[in-house]
Amino acid sequence: METQEITAAEAPAHPRLRENIWHIRASSDAALLITSDSRFEVGTEDALRFLKMRSHCTGFHSVEEIAQRSGLALDDVRSILASLEEAGVVFSSPAERADLDRVRAALLSICKIWSDELRLAYIGNEFRHGSLPKTALTGWLCEMYHYISDFPLAIEHGARRAEGRLKDVLVRYAQQEKHHDEFVVRTLENLGLKRDEVKGSAPLVSTRAIGLLMREMFEHEPCSVLLMAALVEAQEFQEEHIAGFKQCMHETYGAPLDAFDPFFEHQQIDVGMGHAELLADNIDLIDVTDMERLDGMVNRLHDLKHAFELQSLEIRDYYTNLNGKYFPRQRMRFSSL
Ligand SMILES: [Fe+2]
Ligand SMILES: [Fe+2]
Repeated sequence: METQEITAAEAPAHPRLRENIWHIRASSDAALLITSDSRFEVGTEDALRFLKMRSHCTGFHSVEEIAQRSGLALDDVRSILASLEEAGVVFSSPAERADLDRVRAALLSICKIWSDELRLAYIGNEFRHGSLPKTALTGWLCEMYHYISDFPLAIEHGARRAEGRLKDVLVRYAQQEKHHDEFVVRTLENLGLKRDEVKGSAPLVSTRAIGLLMREMFEHEPCSVLLMAALVEAQEFQEEHIAGFKQCMHETYGAPLDAFDPFFEHQQIDVGMGHAELLADNIDLIDVTDMERLDGMVNRLHDLKHAFELQSLEIRDYYTNLNGKYFPRQRMRFSSL
């Protein structure tokens, strides 16, 4: 996508914003603003000023109130809003139904944006830099085991509510994801865990939340399984990166050089089956135009994106300093009370 220049326009009375993601680095003169239609370069100083007022642009406050709450001058608030209006970031009232082509394009675009965000902040990246202890590495894989064992069951939950060709696609997707947890179990065994202890461990609450949120979303809109695939499926398999990762796991965590072979075998299988393209390949199966249903669907997808971020935080919190916590996390039993 080309970056565009923002020019001034009129701002509305109670501003609310469309999805706007900012990449701001104090060391750089320009910040990047990502929306579902475009990307813009914005001066870093302007971007930081905007962040002061962003929190208050909820549609509940007048421009004067936003100035008051953010501590910015009224003229500054007006001029920033005018620029954002021109960039299409300021929300204007929606129609009751959306145009189907616009729905499909917007969903493809937002899945790509949120998937990129998830990949940037992914806890898996930190192991390459050796910034977390081995307990966190193992904990990360245990959570992956629980998530991957649950995933096909959640897809089936959606498939049961789907009809026609969507049902066929979802049943096949669930079938293809079955038993993929085995690759993670083998990786954990290579790192010294017992098969039984992996299978008998309890997922973190955030991992359970991901399972529940998926089912809720799939239940309301079975076609949203395709959005989930676009959000989480690995998009590429890069041999050079993999060799580097294995070497790093060996040097930093003392993992055998072939310990992660099953892990990457799984990635290669999923990439080979085209799961990352499931949404794009079946975009005609997205047929929701009712605004209330669309709002529900994207809000649930957005919650899921944040549940994955929460999972990274919880893995770090639980598995970095055990301080006597069970490793891996254990189920609570009535008999233990
Ligand atoms: Fe898989
Ligand atoms: Fe997959």
